Amino acid sequence: MKSPRLIQIAHEDPRAVRAELLAGLMAPTATIAPKYLYDALGSRLFSAITELPEYYPTRTEAAIFRREMNDMARAIGPVSTLVDLGAGNCEKAARLFETFRVQRYVAVDISVNYLRDSLACLQREHPEMDMLGVGLDFSASLALPTEIGDGPRCLFYPGSSIGNFTPAEALTFLRQAQAASLGGALLIGVDLVKPVGILEPAYDDPLGVTAAFNRNMLLHLNRLAGTDFDIADWRHVAFFNGAESRIEMHLEALRDATVRWPGGERRFAAGERMHTENSCKWQLDDFAALLQQAGFSRLRHWTDENGWFAVFLGFAAP
Ligand code: AVJ
Repeated sequence: MKSPRLIQIAHEDPRAVRAELLAGLMAPTATIAPKYLYDALGSRLFSAITELPEYYPTRTEAAIFRREMNDMARAIGPVSTLVDLGAGNCEKAARLFETFRVQRYVAVDISVNYLRDSLACLQREHPEMDMLGVGLDFSASLALPTEIGDGPRCLFYPGSSIGNFTPAEALTFLRQAQAASLGGALLIGVDLVKPVGILEPAYDDPLGVTAAFNRNMLLHLNRLAGTDFDIADWRHVAFFNGAESRIEMHLEALRDATVRWPGGERRFAAGERMHTENSCKWQLDDFAALLQQAGFSRLRHWTDENGWFAVFLGFAAP
């Protein structure tokens, strides 16, 4: 049996993380990057979100893959290297291994520690497959290590995490993906515009799991930046911003609150908000145009019967 290789590209320096977080806190509208939603508890809360009846993206995307996997495989051809961006527990990619005839699997996530156990487990099920875990924060820059090999790659970016980028940032990211595929392809999940009555409950569920997910960010921040946020002072706010075509998540101060950290403080007035996440919702045509602008061609896409979610395929070579 083969065993997974693990590579960590550059761990973020805790002092740089702290400086970045505090700069965001001091900005006129305080902002915290959505990647800080995912500490150990945050990752479990996100996983709970995907089980909520109101949160349609995960199960809608899974249904598209279940129904269209064979058609996708015919369109892509045999995949020698599958690069899974934001792999986590590697579950979504593993469902494709057989149909896509994957020979080498590269799981990428912020920390290689998240990948160790899931890859070891997957390797037992697929003893002959080459497996590689890469610890890399690709939200900053998508530079894949040479250990992956130099053939064309199929990049896999499911879940609609592309929605966390503004359209301009998404274009930058997709251009990097085009280059990183080395003449291969990109298979990407994209959440689509739909009625506000469906969108908003998905991000503000009656059980309060998304609220806990958002507010937990402050506990994570207290540990990373040495702040003293009191969770009780903050409430979850999520709404669809139609002009920007995105769900926005914020934390709103319930009362005047002062947050202190070694060397500084910030006062928030009651009702003041911190911006914690954007989740852009695309129109099919606009996303296709974005992929083309990024250098992808021979585009295909698959959607569910409601047209709520899409999986796009594009090729880097003409
Ligand atoms: C993991 C970024 C795709 O935007 O739907 C879920 C994160 N935020 N509920 C999304 C999220 C609130 C999710 N993504």
